[in-house]
Amino acid sequence: MRVADTIAVTPALSIAGALRVPGDKSISHRYALLAAIADGRSTIANYAPGADCASTLSCVEALGAIVSRTPAAGENEPALVTIDGRGLRGLRASGTPLDCGNSGSTMRMLAGVVAAHPFISTLVGDASLSRRPMRRIIGPLSQMGATISAGPGDRPPVTITGGDLSGIHFEPETPSAQVKSAVLLAGLQASGETSVLEPAATRDHTERALAAFGARVSIAGRRVALEGGQRLTGCHLKVPGDLSSAAFWAVAAAALTGSDVSITNVGLNPSRSALLDVLRRFGADVEETREDDWNGEPVGRLRIRHGAMTDLVIAPEEVPEVIDELPVLATLGTFGGSVTVSGAGELRVKESDRIAELVAGLRAMGADADERPDGFQVRCGKRLTGGAVHARHDHRLAMAFSIAALGATGPTTINGADAVAVSYPAFFDDLDRLARPRAGTASQK
Ligand code: S3P
Repeated sequence: MRVADTIAVTPALSIAGALRVPGDKSISHRYALLAAIADGRSTIANYAPGADCASTLSCVEALGAIVSRTPAAGENEPALVTIDGRGLRGLRASGTPLDCGNSGSTMRMLAGVVAAHPFISTLVGDASLSRRPMRRIIGPLSQMGATISAGPGDRPPVTITGGDLSGIHFEPETPSAQVKSAVLLAGLQASGETSVLEPAATRDHTERALAAFGARVSIAGRRVALEGGQRLTGCHLKVPGDLSSAAFWAVAAAALTGSDVSITNVGLNPSRSALLDVLRRFGADVEETREDDWNGEPVGRLRIRHGAMTDLVIAPEEVPEVIDELPVLATLGTFGGSVTVSGAGELRVKESDRIAELVAGLRAMGADADERPDGFQVRCGKRLTGGAVHARHDHRLAMAFSIAALGATGPTTINGADAVAVSYPAFFDDLDRLARPRAGTASQK
């Protein structure tokens, strides 16, 4: 599915309808990595369709896992990925650098996997990923026994000479699920026990995925531990819909009067669903129905309806659980109710500097917004005019600007709209289907 580079988004009256969102990106990465080092075959249904998760598959393939991909054939036959694993520490050296594309999750978590293998791996990425900090994984993986070098400022490319690792007890300074996962994946292949004690809870998909593949993981508060040398068993997995993709529709429904959106088969893991509490606080009517459990991940349906709109303050302690949703939550301030975020300095080292670029984009559309060193404020009361914005090669900014554009008085041109292909290639098709245009405005494409 090819997405145009430039897309005009026209204002909408409301959004309404039912949909499924693509398979969860975070969970798909983890299933692919674990399947590659498991014994036997794993099948992963509803594997995330975006470029990021495709990067993870190509990397494990380059390392010797046998991967086959069957694209989705309609709603009831989701995409299926089959991976024949090579067993614990059974990967082979790749003849070429491992291209992680735009995906920080791929680079950081894969580093934990290859660090335990007795060969040299070079991990590279695109221009955006090549600017992102890797010290956070180089530190603990070196402590475990890998030899790692990187570019200036500990940025990619990252070259890892792996080998026999020893377990460590690690306390990261910054909460990060990617770092926690890299250390746990290395720890699984190390001697002795490895544990991670986080300063704040982050998404726990790795812990749940390890259990699905048969590993014993012990969790006590914010401390996760596992014993090295446990072999994983290939299994049949199904990936829930991505709540971070659902967030765009949830926010649009909360923001536009008369909106009513239902999302089915969506992941409702509590370590990801703080967004729903934030939307309730804003004044939206959020119904969350848990219906099932897929390989240890809760799944269900969401219904979001527009309600009141009040000022929102997102405090530092809430940030790790809504980190990926902050760009779209910021847009609520352009509809009604100011949005103030602090303690979110990590946004500056995501796919773009999400504080600077988000504020610049919203201002270009007419918002009253400003940056803070570790956050931002978007003040209500000023209806957006629309205009032209650049997504800066950042998928979540492309989608957040599109949601803000629905409330503007005129159309908005999103340059770099093709960035949505990283996590949600069908985003603009779904937008076209759900948006009820204002009288006299054309569809999005
Ligand atoms: C992710 C963790 C988060 C998140 C990223 C995906 C993951 O990053 O922002 O998009 O899949 O583990 P950090 O680990 O840096 O917090």
